[in-house]
Amino acid sequence: MDRSMLEAFGRRVRIGMVGGGADSVIGRTHLIAMRADGLCEVVAGAMSVDPTIAKASGRQELLAPDRIYTDWRDMLEKEAARPDRIDAVVVATPPRLHFPVAKAFLEKGFDVLSEKPLTHDLAEARSLADVVRSTGRIFCLAHCYTGYPMVRQARALVEAGSIGKVRLIDGEFSIGTAGVALEPDDPAKRHWRFRPDQEGKAGLLGEAGSHAYHMASYITGLHAVSVSALMATYAPRREVFDNAYITAKFDGGAHGRLWYSYVAAGNDHGLTIKIYGETGSLVWWQEEGEILWQKPMGKPAIRHARGYEGMASDVEAVTRIREGHPEGYLLAFANLYRLFAQAIMARHLGRPHLPFLASLPSVEDGVKGMAFIEAATLSNEQGGAWTKVSS
Ligand SMILES: NC(=O)c1ccc[n+]([C@@H]2O[C@H](COP(=O)([O-])OP(=O)(O)OC[C@H]3O[C@@H](n4cnc5c(N)ncnc54)[C@H](O)[C@@H]3O)[C@@H](O)[C@H]2O)c1
Repeated sequence: MDRSMLEAFGRRVRIGMVGGGADSVIGRTHLIAMRADGLCEVVAGAMSVDPTIAKASGRQELLAPDRIYTDWRDMLEKEAARPDRIDAVVVATPPRLHFPVAKAFLEKGFDVLSEKPLTHDLAEARSLADVVRSTGRIFCLAHCYTGYPMVRQARALVEAGSIGKVRLIDGEFSIGTAGVALEPDDPAKRHWRFRPDQEGKAGLLGEAGSHAYHMASYITGLHAVSVSALMATYAPRREVFDNAYITAKFDGGAHGRLWYSYVAAGNDHGLTIKIYGETGSLVWWQEEGEILWQKPMGKPAIRHARGYEGMASDVEAVTRIREGHPEGYLLAFANLYRLFAQAIMARHLGRPHLPFLASLPSVEDGVKGMAFIEAATLSNEQGGAWTKVSS
């Protein structure tokens, strides 16, 4: 990475965090990822819904006492009034809050990096896309697995025609660890993911599924036009769906199969994607995410691995260290922050910033993801009837 832009910018990009406190699952990952390249620093935060935890989380990140907030609205108003205000906010709350928080910060002129799924529902997603367009702010959706260089290489190979026209898309996010496969005895101990009053009965589609669907579209450039979904609940005492099989027709004539599960017993993470074209296929598995298999029909398989020369340019732009030294999940996540920060700095400096955003998950991707979820939910309610995905 050319670090001269950071030198010209003269400081790190200032980040504020909403959510992601010591009581969260994903907060620590964001904090590591944003710091990996030294382009960002967290300077403000309303990091928890619990004021005590919000304060402790802010102190642990060495935030200035007057920039540790216990209410994100307070943070919005006070940061907006500061001469050294944050450049961007990271939204790492449960999905219900993504829309109000992102909208409010965008409207005050802040850039936003938000966790997935984009919003609670499709209507909010469309409205958020309008806000991003009308404010002209930078927005990135944290589909972190697209940060893996080998996922980008898969995308470049499809685009270059290396497997021919895409026919079949097979994606799964099938988790099976005890922490998600089993429901606690005491319903009060359930995570919000497993509470129907939080993200609905089909919350699985946003929580796990949105990554797999986005990955399918990211690699192939194709989007589902109609779906047939079958969802079920297996874990005793559970009140939400914990398994979903979705068949999808994609534009361009490709067919796809998506499987999302919390009860794939024995699986760990389980995110896998297989793309079959006319002349060969590609296989990528998150748990061995530094490797991409290309299988040309009738020829030996090709093992692409991060760090070698000759990869696509947007792969090289997110590769740090040489072959044989794994960068892994945290640095894949950091690639989102690298490009997001570079876009912010370039725009401040009056340089072209859109190239940095070209390979990042966008608000439009989030809207398409929410449309897919809405159609799949409707299909399941109608016994798996084919249901159009709104455009
Ligand atoms: N990209 C990924 O791979 C990945 C992985 C896990 C979770 N996620 C996403 O990250 C988001 C958070 O998930 P999680 O598992 O960390 O949830 P969590 O419940 O563990 O943490 C949520 C955090 O938000 C805080 N919060 C809640 N309401 C708040 C408010 N009003 N103001 C300030 N903070 C508030 C909580 O206190 C907590 O710190 C979700 O959208 C989830 O889908 C993404």
